[in-house]
Amino acid sequence: MKVISVTNLKGGVAKTTIVYNLAGVLAERKKRVLLIDMDYQANLTTLFEGEDAPFESGANIAKVLVESLPLASAIRETTISGVFLVPADIDLAALDSRFQNDLNAHFLLAELLDSVRDRFDIVLIDCPPNLLLGTRMALVASDAYLVPVGADRFSMRAAMHVQQVADNIRKRANRELKLLGIVMTRVQARRVTRDYVDLFRSRFTSKLLKTQIKERTAIQEAATHGVPITTYEPTGEGAEMFRALADEIKL
Ligand SMILES: Nc1ncnc2c1ncn2[C@@H]1O[C@H](COP(=O)(O)OP(=O)(O)OP(=O)(O)O)[C@@H](O)[C@H]1O
Ligand SMILES: [Mg+2]
Repeated sequence: MKVISVTNLKGGVAKTTIVYNLAGVLAERKKRVLLIDMDYQANLTTLFEGEDAPFESGANIAKVLVESLPLASAIRETTISGVFLVPADIDLAALDSRFQNDLNAHFLLAELLDSVRDRFDIVLIDCPPNLLLGTRMALVASDAYLVPVGADRFSMRAAMHVQQVADNIRKRANRELKLLGIVMTRVQARRVTRDYVDLFRSRFTSKLLKTQIKERTAIQEAATHGVPITTYEPTGEGAEMFRALADEIKL
């Protein structure tokens, strides 16, 4: 089982979109996938919920962490074959205050994931747009992390902060943690974007992935229809971009 966090303290850089659509690609490849929504905004959960909000009741990652429930009790089947979800809800916002001064809390998610090691090939963790306890727990539990960035100066700074936090976690808690790469998302055909791509490449060198996720309305339309792009337009450019991303990070 390989555990991957998708993380950036910058908001709106397509973290959730990447987790959702990579799940679509992995389902095509017959992988057994577990998605964990670590964001109190619960956007990933919402993408799977549709109209009838099936995950609103019952266990979720907040309950598991705060009330020490078994992780298995919160694993739900999704509409994508082979893909399971541990949903989030707003209670996750209380995580930091709940575990104040408890350094062992950083290891909680890693321990919980150990209990499902044989059930899944890949675990993808959708992190919130901050570097607080939820994200740190995710990085301690991960083999590797992927950092989506937009073509702007704020994303550049944010990606550097993420790397610093990950470096600390590697030193203190998880020696195996690797940077899978930095992926440019929502890329538009504009001069300023090209300039930023050059800037990112000079700063992050080979860690900047070759695959770029371009801004495409079909990606938003697919989410609105409650399916990943690989289902919505299986032969379209959008699906191909996420397949290329999965290939490049060797999923
Ligand atoms: N390649 C793309 N083309 C078009 N729209 C996109 C693309 N990627 C993401 N979006 C849209 O951009 C918005 C932000 O994406 P998303 O929610 O995945 O970002 P995020 O990093 O998870 O945000 P947050 O930090 O709030 O969790 C969403 O409305 C999403 O549908
Ligand atoms: Mg998100």
